[in-house]
Amino acid sequence: MPIKLNDQNAGLRDHELEYIRPLAENAFRILSENTGQGHEMLGWLDLPHTYDREEFARIKEAARRIQERSQVLVVIGIGGSYLGARAGLEFVKGPFGNQLHEKGVEVYFAGSNLSADYMRDILNIIGDRDFSVNVISKSGTTTEPAAAFRIFRAELERRYGADGARDRIYATTDRAKGALRGMAEQKGYETFVVPDDIGGRFSCLSAVGLLPMAAGGMDIDRVMEGCLHACELYKNPDFLSNDVMLYAALRFLMLMKGKQVELLASYEPALTMFGEWYKQLMAESEGKDGKGLFPVSANFTTDLHSIGQFIQDGSRIMFETVLWVEHTRHTLTVPNDPVNADGLNFAAGVSISEMNEKAMKGTLLAHVDGGVPNLVVTLDRLDDYTFGELVYFFWKSLAVSGYMIGVNPFDQPGVEAYKKNMFALLGKPGYENMREALEARLKQ
Ligand code: PA5
Repeated sequence: MPIKLNDQNAGLRDHELEYIRPLAENAFRILSENTGQGHEMLGWLDLPHTYDREEFARIKEAARRIQERSQVLVVIGIGGSYLGARAGLEFVKGPFGNQLHEKGVEVYFAGSNLSADYMRDILNIIGDRDFSVNVISKSGTTTEPAAAFRIFRAELERRYGADGARDRIYATTDRAKGALRGMAEQKGYETFVVPDDIGGRFSCLSAVGLLPMAAGGMDIDRVMEGCLHACELYKNPDFLSNDVMLYAALRFLMLMKGKQVELLASYEPALTMFGEWYKQLMAESEGKDGKGLFPVSANFTTDLHSIGQFIQDGSRIMFETVLWVEHTRHTLTVPNDPVNADGLNFAAGVSISEMNEKAMKGTLLAHVDGGVPNLVVTLDRLDDYTFGELVYFFWKSLAVSGYMIGVNPFDQPGVEAYKKNMFALLGKPGYENMREALEARLKQ
């Protein structure tokens, strides 16, 4: 069953979508004809047709080798070089995938922060078990993954020697240039490519995401099949029957109505990291030139007990996009309890999934009544195929919506600001002039 978009609770009148239609169709045309801003970064648009089959086979072979030699894979990367793989693994294997050992190796992600405790904890979790590393960085000089790579590489070299470590390190980086490319060639690591025409947040179905996903036990053939299906389905130029264009248009209308925040709400903890991936995609693509919706994500019903009050009753700044999953992996039923101290016997015999559905429907109506319009994106189930489909749905819709608001959805000039300050404060060569001024400001 393909992904379904439902806008019945968006609070829109029929003519509103009709009036916005030419803008959406124009953005869709610009994207399809490769004529918009940033069109040189559209490698993802036809990816399921154009991806490198030879590299894909090597990815599967490397994943098999990792599974054979190691119990743990440490994936080192940040932002676009991190979020998609983790989102995919949790989407399919659930939040406890590492503990369940149903398929693939345990996968831990490092290099996405500068926390010593976090890295030490991963080393402790590995203990004396065998591990491999997949370091992912287009540039090879991003501070967080560079620091983590030094630490995990040193541990590999300590345990297995330089030659043994070489056979356990897989580098995903630029095809020809950059610090990691140079180091990989010098040390003899097996390498995979971050394509030149695909930005970080669009890279999770390239080697960037595919190797960790395959090593962790995902079926990457099915991922690419789902992506292919979406790629073909959303080529449809008919506005009203193309959910990619409709979702972009709906988001645009929300922005026009004064909404500033899009809350991606899911009811499965397995989608928590998907929410993180979605936030980067939306924020880095649209949040520029003083424009864009601020993306946030929440996991219900958990977060209804924390930020639920604000959503229902606080500043009316948001609309919600609900990610709803029709079929769960397991079925559980609420048992009867003769004592009924918690008063829950009214639900005895009811499945947990049905309770979740009633919670979703009740929440939707309450939030709509509270002035929070709701869009619903329904998925059949959380499997490899649907992950590929959903990723493509959001990529393409976001690209259309970026063009609708008049930004280049494929650059991220704002990400550099904090990096420059951090380099200056750390004394990186080339940033000396900034350091004094920053330190003076910090002393004030
Ligand atoms: O989307 C982006 O471009 C960023 O999130 C990058 O992926 C992130 O900063 C990591 O960069 P690199 O792969 O060069 O280490």
